[in-house]
Amino acid sequence: MKAPSTLRIGMIGAGGVAARHAQTLSGFPDVALVAIADLDVGRSAALAATCGARSYADPERMLDAEKPDAVYICVPPFAHGAPELACTSRGIPFFVEKPLSIELAVAEQIEAAVQKAGLVTATGYHWRYSDTVTEAAEILAEHSARVVIGSWLDKVPPVPWWVRRNRSGGQVVEQLTHVLDLLRVLVGEVETVHAFGSRGPRAEHPDSDIDDVTVATLQMASGALGTLTASSLLRHKHRAGLEIVADGLVLELTETQLTIGRDGSPTTRSPGNDAKVAVDRAFVDAVSGRRDDVRAPYAEALRTHRLGLAIAESAATGRPVSLTADVGSDRARP
Ligand SMILES: NC(=O)c1ccc[n+]([C@@H]2O[C@H](COP(=O)([O-])OP(=O)(O)OC[C@H]3O[C@@H](n4cnc5c(N)ncnc54)[C@H](O)[C@@H]3O)[C@@H](O)[C@H]2O)c1
Repeated sequence: MKAPSTLRIGMIGAGGVAARHAQTLSGFPDVALVAIADLDVGRSAALAATCGARSYADPERMLDAEKPDAVYICVPPFAHGAPELACTSRGIPFFVEKPLSIELAVAEQIEAAVQKAGLVTATGYHWRYSDTVTEAAEILAEHSARVVIGSWLDKVPPVPWWVRRNRSGGQVVEQLTHVLDLLRVLVGEVETVHAFGSRGPRAEHPDSDIDDVTVATLQMASGALGTLTASSLLRHKHRAGLEIVADGLVLELTETQLTIGRDGSPTTRSPGNDAKVAVDRAFVDAVSGRRDDVRAPYAEALRTHRLGLAIAESAATGRPVSLTADVGSDRARP
């Protein structure tokens, strides 16, 4: 039986990442996942059955019937807008998965509504909670990063919307965004990007209209320079991470490892905590008023999203894109 102080959570979207959050939240003694809504009611019913929640086909009906204390929004990139605005108009704090949208205007409208309602928000940039990222930030506080090399070399994820530009936004916006967020946390804001994209015929993905290779060069406000490479041409995940070079120092960060090289014998370690659990715990604690450790609230995630959209725009036009209008960060350090 849950205690009276239990936080009642609703979920919008019942796909892969929703199942992960549902499992994590079900393990928190002070949380009750009360309801799950998905336009595909078979999916919401299936996920709800795993955690004792009620199932809905209509997110707004779920919000009005259940009046949850907080909501998880786990919809694909093209579906953002209505779920968030349904929460802001009812004064309900929300956690939303990355990327924030496909169109910048949608995310900016949501951010304005969040500010007006004064809501607690959090986003799915969970890498920020890894203790290896904290350690890297501490090391970099003593060094000037001069060059960064980011990459995401992977397969096409098994969701049908991913290979359509107007459904996912493409690999940079949808996937590389975790690396872009890490780059901002550890090295600061990007001022200018110049990207190129290319697409070849994909026998396994005949309806794909997204670039399967993107490369970009970056100029950062600190003076550091960078390169990014993203590709979905593989049949497995080969690498997703960031290398950062300073005078006499190289750091290599992935979701599962930190390598520190100062001389000929680099050291490597795995994270000592589970960032995917920590990101949910921090949101629950912030909504409960227990602790404020939300590292990427909506406004902060929007800066990362703008960077991804700028790279996508540059790749589409072949021209450099400047981000000077939005330098600065609410929470640049983990
Ligand atoms: N942070 C992470 O590590 C991480 C991991 C996986 C996925 N994600 C992100 O989560 C998002 C969802 O990914 P997924 O793999 O769960 O996708 P999915 O396709 O498995 O699930 C999405 C679900 O949302 C439902 N849906 C679509 N529009 C809706 C709407 N308006 N209202 C209610 N339900 C709606 C769909 O029916 C589907 O069941 C993506 O943006 C993805 O990038 C983040």
